[in-house]
Amino acid sequence: MSEPEASGKGAVRTALTELLGIRYPVVQAAMGYVSGPRLAAAVSDAGGLGLIASATMSLAELEKAIDDTAGRTPRPFGVNLRADASDAAERVRLIVTRRVPIASFAQAPKPELIAALKDAGVVTIASVGARRHAEKAAGWGIDAVIATGAEGGGHVGAVPTSLLVPQVAAAVDIPVIAAGGFFDGRGLVAALAWGAAGIAMGTRFLLTSDSPVADAVKQVYLAAGLDGTVVTTRVDGVPHRVIRTTMVDRLEGRGRTGGAGRTGGAGRTGGAGGLATLVRSARNAAAFRGLSGMGWREMLRQGREMRRGSGLSWGQVLMAANTPVLLRAAMVDGRTDLGLMSSGQVAGLISDLPSCAELIEAIMAEAATTLDRLEGVRKA
Ligand SMILES: Cc1cc2nc3c(=O)[nH]c(=O)nc-3n(C[C@H](O)[C@H](O)[C@H](O)COP(=O)(O)O)c2cc1C
Repeated sequence: MSEPEASGKGAVRTALTELLGIRYPVVQAAMGYVSGPRLAAAVSDAGGLGLIASATMSLAELEKAIDDTAGRTPRPFGVNLRADASDAAERVRLIVTRRVPIASFAQAPKPELIAALKDAGVVTIASVGARRHAEKAAGWGIDAVIATGAEGGGHVGAVPTSLLVPQVAAAVDIPVIAAGGFFDGRGLVAALAWGAAGIAMGTRFLLTSDSPVADAVKQVYLAAGLDGTVVTTRVDGVPHRVIRTTMVDRLEGRGRTGGAGRTGGAGRTGGAGGLATLVRSARNAAAFRGLSGMGWREMLRQGREMRRGSGLSWGQVLMAANTPVLLRAAMVDGRTDLGLMSSGQVAGLISDLPSCAELIEAIMAEAATTLDRLEGVRKA
């Protein structure tokens, strides 16, 4: 990580830019099937930090993605991985041997993986949705945390960004990256004011011209209002914020007339409810298997991995096994009718598809004018 990247004209200095050797305190959050080499490299090349989402890649695909990204940008980028993947140790070895400078964990990290990465000089980042998770990861030696509030896309906790970030920033001594609902320079300044050292954005980077997602899918996000997402537990048993579509409403067991918002129904349902879930899940699994080209055995293997220790019902396990297939149907195959579209509430405030470079420059310019405006308030 070369020093000049983090400094120079227009660069911003925070504990995060110093730690990562990047120009701007803007991170592209990992997004399965979305943040591959093209998007990650575009963000890193624009002075932020791009993260390759590897949970939806095989080891061989990850190796290729790392080489591809390194070929696209000389700047630092990272790999996001799941510590509970059966081949997590091999992925860590790959990150080390390929000299990827940064590794981030989706969900809970493991102390031995953090140690292996740090011993090799890799900077480590953990994703957290609660203060105690940040404290635990900090105790294991993690270098930074991404604190994601409830308005974020994908798997989310219950605490909003405006409360989680100041709480986490006060609790740990390492750089905190604020996530969930960010899209502009005002948000970056707000995050810094809460004690964060930068921001991470998923949905905003999905909605760029550098994102590989099909235009039809991007149009669905652009058309969404602030009430256009819903947190459902019916997909894989844990709260997951997605664009509210007819299919999601069907999973939720209701028509399109109900209001958007957090929904429950994830319990170990028995009786008619449990059977209905199982039948619905099996029907979905059958429908989507063809789209993915994934065999039943692989789908069930993925489901079993998710089930381990999670207390999901069999119906939910089948849905969990479907999750990658459902996400892939939208993000890779462009099937807005069948696929699942993880999205932050912020989709409701986004109406354009800039390049990553244009976006990051606009955010930094707006952050500067916002700081000037606030200075005016102080002087008044
Ligand atoms: C389309 C999409 C896919 C995502 N996939 C993943 C993933 O594979 N792993 C992960 O840890 N988080 C995933 N997330 C969550 C993001 O990393 C991040 O927490 C979230 O996007 C932040 O909120 P925002 O969308 O409001 O910026 C995904 C989010 C989106 C929108």
